[in-house]
Amino acid sequence: MSGLETLARFGCVSDECRWAADRYQFPWVSELDAHDREIISLLDCLRDGEFSGLASATQLYELLLQEKEAGMSQDRLADWTPVFSYVSIISYEELRHGFTLGSLYHYVTTGKTDYIAQMNPREFGKKYMWCYDDRRYWDLYSYILAHLFSEIINTELYRDVAIRVHHPQLKEALGFIRNDEARHIAAWSALIRDLLQADEYHMERALGALERGLLYHNAMVHETYFEGVNKMMPLFLSERNDRLEPLKRITQQKYRVISDLFGERNPYSEKDIQDMHLNYLMKTSGVQRARYSEEAPGNIEVIA
Ligand SMILES: [Fe+2]
Ligand SMILES: [Fe+2]
Repeated sequence: MSGLETLARFGCVSDECRWAADRYQFPWVSELDAHDREIISLLDCLRDGEFSGLASATQLYELLLQEKEAGMSQDRLADWTPVFSYVSIISYEELRHGFTLGSLYHYVTTGKTDYIAQMNPREFGKKYMWCYDDRRYWDLYSYILAHLFSEIINTELYRDVAIRVHHPQLKEALGFIRNDEARHIAAWSALIRDLLQADEYHMERALGALERGLLYHNAMVHETYFEGVNKMMPLFLSERNDRLEPLKRITQQKYRVISDLFGERNPYSEKDIQDMHLNYLMKTSGVQRARYSEEAPGNIEVIA
């Protein structure tokens, strides 16, 4: 399938799966019990992560322009077109997730239903679109891979949170978001496969960028990312009291996707991927804020 056919296909699937956001007015919020309110009160950083889709779109364009300035050929720049067209679809969907979570969080913490009306657009733009200035962890190839692999974590998190909550309409709303995230995995996989097959150059660049693409969540661009990881870790469901079970689930899926994209050229075993994640989680445990640094290990500088 060509990149444009993939784009048309996933654009149409998005249209077909669009759920009613009800103008982000959810009349059932007043019915939420204490358990559901407690869970929603932990989702502010996830809301921030959804809105950081705006930073993703902006930074991706910037990284592509940097490649152009650095001399990438016209043909290879053009190969990125379907990926960039899909960014406009996915940005809107992530914005819907942010508005949904933000409206729920605002109601649970203030009792008010005017979340979007009370937001200041200038503050919103600074917080969610330009937040990446301090957190440029990626090049163009590791960034797009980060977007793909992060959707696996997003899907698992929403799946587990949707299972945990009680109210049927809250369950349904979180289920809609989970389905969007699962579709994003499929779309990014297909679009990246088309890109890698278009030119051996892209394949080599992607292989060179794989470690960071696999490990660094794209939502690390926003300020509260690490606070969110530490706060939401307990929301993943662990079967058989195995605390590593969610990590195993995630690494299994990452391994499946990476094998599918890179075939025999995939340098990592499932165990390698799991060890990389464990190592990373240990290093960032308890971290609240971080920014990019040339000197810091992994370029992640922890800040107070
Ligand atoms: Fe999302
Ligand atoms: Fe997503």
